[in-house]
Amino acid sequence: MSENKPDAIKPWGGRFTEPTDAFVERFTASVTFDQRLYHHDINGSIAHATMLGKVGILTANEVQEIIDGLEAIRAEIVAGTFQWSVALEDVHMNIEAALTKRIGLTGKKLHTGRSRNDQVATDIRLYVRDEIDALSGTLTRLQLALLDQAEREADTVMPGFTHLQTAQPITFGHHMMAWYEMLERDYSRLQDCRSRLNYSPLGAAALAGTSYPIEREYTAQLLGFTAPTRNSLDSVSDRDFAIELASAGSLIMTHLSRFSEELVLWTSAQFDFVDLPDRFCTGSSIMPQKKNPDVPELVRGKTGRVNGHLVSLLTLMKSQPLAYNKDNQEDKEPLFDVIDTLRDCLKAYADMMPAIRPKKENMRKAALQGYATATDLADYLVRKGIAFRDAHEIVGKSVAFGIEQNKDLSELTLEQLQQFSPEISEDIFEVLTLEGSVQARNHIGGTAPEQVRAAVANRRAAIASR
Ligand code: ARG
Repeated sequence: MSENKPDAIKPWGGRFTEPTDAFVERFTASVTFDQRLYHHDINGSIAHATMLGKVGILTANEVQEIIDGLEAIRAEIVAGTFQWSVALEDVHMNIEAALTKRIGLTGKKLHTGRSRNDQVATDIRLYVRDEIDALSGTLTRLQLALLDQAEREADTVMPGFTHLQTAQPITFGHHMMAWYEMLERDYSRLQDCRSRLNYSPLGAAALAGTSYPIEREYTAQLLGFTAPTRNSLDSVSDRDFAIELASAGSLIMTHLSRFSEELVLWTSAQFDFVDLPDRFCTGSSIMPQKKNPDVPELVRGKTGRVNGHLVSLLTLMKSQPLAYNKDNQEDKEPLFDVIDTLRDCLKAYADMMPAIRPKKENMRKAALQGYATATDLADYLVRKGIAFRDAHEIVGKSVAFGIEQNKDLSELTLEQLQQFSPEISEDIFEVLTLEGSVQARNHIGGTAPEQVRAAVANRRAAIASR
C-alpha cells in the first residue's frame, strides 16, 4: 500500500482513490463490539502462522517474530493499553496493523493464504466453543444445587398443580427434579451445538480456498477442532452454530423463566411457599412492607431478548447468497448478548438455588386444601372392585359434600364417606393422608420420596461422568 494513497491506514486501500466517508467508516466498522474476539483472533493467527512455518511459507524466525508480536499485543489488550482504531474497522485489522507496526515487514506476511472471511469464521467458532464450556459449567452448578434441594426435600409435601389448580400432592424434591430434567436437555443441546461447530473453517480463505500449499488438518488440530470443514464456500458463510446457540439459549431462558414464574408465585403472600433470602430481593421505595423477587423477575424478563436475538439471527441468514456477505457482521451483537444474558441468568440461578428454603408448614396446609387426595380415594375404590368411572363419580359427590361442609376429604367422618359408597372402610384414612398419597406413586418418575432419592442418585452419577 503506497503512503500517498488517500487512506493509507486501510490494509485494503490499494485500489481506492478517495478516503472512506466518515459516516461510512463508522457505519461499517465492527471493532467497538468484535474486539472481544481478540483472544481467539490471536490464537487463530498463531495457529495459521505456525502452519505457514511448517509448510515452508514462513521461516522459523518469522513465525517466532509473529508469535512474540501477537503475544505482546495480547498483553497490551489485557492490560487495557491497546489503542483500538475505528479506521481499522474490525478486531482482525486492528491486530494485524498493530503487529506490522511492531515487527515490520514480517507482520505483513501473516495474512498469506487466508482472508478475514475464514479468519472471522474461525474466531467466532473458537469464542462460542469457550463460552459453551463456561455456560455448561454454570448449568452443571445449578443442576447440582437442584439435586441437593431434591435430596434434602425428598419428603417435603406440597400441592402439585394442573391449570394452577390443586391437583395431587407431590414432594418439593420431585418438583426440583422436574426443573433438573429441563436443564439436562439444555445441557445436551449445548453439547450438541458444540460438537457440530467444532470444525475448522481456516484455509477456506475468501471463499474458494487458497493457492498456497496449506495444511488445514494441522491448523484444525492446533486449535482443538475435530477436523477441517469440508467446503470452503459453506465454511465462510455458515453461521448455523450462532443460531443453534441462540436456539438452545432460548430454551434455557424459557426454562429459567418458568422457574422464575413459580418462584414469584411461591414468594407471594398468597402462596408463601418458599423463602428467598433478602440478598436476592429488593424493596420498594414507597411501600415499606415490600420484598420483591427481582432476580427471578428479571430473568423472566430477559427471556424476551434472547428469543428476539434468535429471530434476528434467523432473519440475518435468510436469503443470503453464498458465500460471505457483510451482513454476517451483524451476527455478533445478538450472539454476544445471548451469551452475556445466559451467563448472568445461569449464574443468578446457580447462586440463588442453594439458598431457597421451602416453608414446609405452608405447603402442607395448601396441600390439605383443594381435595388433593381425591384421586387416591378413587384409586382406593378401584382396588375394592369398583370400576374407575364409577369411582370417579363417587369421589366427585364426596368432594361436593366436602365443599358444602367446608372440610377436606380426610376431615369427613367414616359415616359421612360411607354415604357415597359402602365399600369405604376405616383404612381409607391412611390413603387420604398426604404421605400415603405421595408414597403410593412409587415407580420410575413418580413423586414417592423413595423414587426422588433414587432419581437424585442416578443423576448425580450421570453428572459425575460429564
Ligand atoms: N468484520 C467482519 C465481520 O465481522 C470481518 C470479515 C470481513 N470480511 C470482508 N470481506 N469484509 O464479518
